[in-house]
Amino acid sequence: VAKDGTRVFDLRMQAGETEFRDGQSTSTWGFNGAYLGPTLRAERGEKVRVRIRNGLDEASTVHWHGMHLPAEMDGGPHQMVEAGGSWSPHWTVDQPAATLWYHPHPHGATEKHVQRGLAGMFILDDERSERLALPKRYGVDDLPVIVQDVTFDGATFDHGRGLMQNAGFLGERTLVNGTLSPYQEVRDELVRLRLLNASTARTYDFGLSDGRAFSLVGTDGGLLERPARMERVQLSPGERAEIVVRMKPGERTVLRSFPQGNYGDAWQRRFNGGGDSFDVLQLRAAERLRPSPALPARLGELEVPAGDDAVRARHFDLERTGINGRPMDMGRVDETVTRGTTEVWTLRSDDGMPHNFHVHDVQFRVLEVNGEAPPPRLRGPKDTVFVPHGTTVKLAMRFDGPADPDSPYMYHCHLLYHEDEGMMGQFVVV
Ligand code: C2O
Ligand code: CU
Ligand code: CU
Repeated sequence: VAKDGTRVFDLRMQAGETEFRDGQSTSTWGFNGAYLGPTLRAERGEKVRVRIRNGLDEASTVHWHGMHLPAEMDGGPHQMVEAGGSWSPHWTVDQPAATLWYHPHPHGATEKHVQRGLAGMFILDDERSERLALPKRYGVDDLPVIVQDVTFDGATFDHGRGLMQNAGFLGERTLVNGTLSPYQEVRDELVRLRLLNASTARTYDFGLSDGRAFSLVGTDGGLLERPARMERVQLSPGERAEIVVRMKPGERTVLRSFPQGNYGDAWQRRFNGGGDSFDVLQLRAAERLRPSPALPARLGELEVPAGDDAVRARHFDLERTGINGRPMDMGRVDETVTRGTTEVWTLRSDDGMPHNFHVHDVQFRVLEVNGEAPPPRLRGPKDTVFVPHGTTVKLAMRFDGPADPDSPYMYHCHLLYHEDEGMMGQFVVV
């Protein structure tokens, strides 16, 4: 913490070697280490500054996914940090407690930079999250779970994509926080998992191997109004979920990803991973567990707009070749929104492939999926939403950041192969 109270973080992007398997090291990239990056943590109202140094031999960026902040601090493709260069974005945290993350965003190369290991969590706290009886001892009963899929080719990563794999790279195995075949010892009755899908193309449908229900307490941008009991939570690339699992003494259970029902047709399930299953993380409960307080029945109010005061509707056709028929152009602003207003955005995906949609700077409310109320897993603050083939999704969001006609924010498909190939557009707030 600096003299004026600013919380300062140092991040250095660097190349290194990681031993995922005994005796075999893989060339990887990370922040302050060889793979992934430290968990950053700040409170609502706090000023933060991140001093970034690029120790790679190519240019990159660092984007704060889910963060509400001025466009010039966003770390999108316009805020490149040259090889050997540095960048020092700063802002005031002005949003509810949430599990956010950071990753590079260089136009055309985001998939590559994330695949090599550049990603980390950014946890926000607020007065409410500190007061609520939720598991909150980091690394003890409150665990970051960064899920990525990888394929090894001998000692190296194989990032190859099959001919039919139009979603992007799909790995054969999953890592949690950079670890293969991971397990976690649990000493409390309730354990909170902050799930982050940091994979570049793969969507997961998480549940527990014995089918037990868990409580969803948070989505991308923060806590729900109340915990929701469910057995599965689906996360496409970039999405997060905070779930609380109840453990029994001495037992073992596995966080698994199951085959997915809403992934598109048989072709998509077969070639784009919808039919795959992974054992992601084993939970091993101690013989004696510390009692945990019951989850609160109410978590609080959502701060995302309901959409009834929307002044503008926009439509986005999600196609592999571009959004609304146009591939990304760094020199073109696609949409101009008015500061302080609410808009309703409708997404439509109909080109036979899985897509999702992420909007920078805002958290939105999902109003409808195919004309119906969204399922419980989509009822919290969101910044990324899965839009499989044949789906229409309606969102409400408010743009209340500072006006800046010269610095665009991005919206894009977060299947990074699609994003790199042009499924991205730019908006400015004026
Ligand atoms: Cu997670 Cu535009 O990014
Ligand atoms: Cu983002
Ligand atoms: Cu896509």
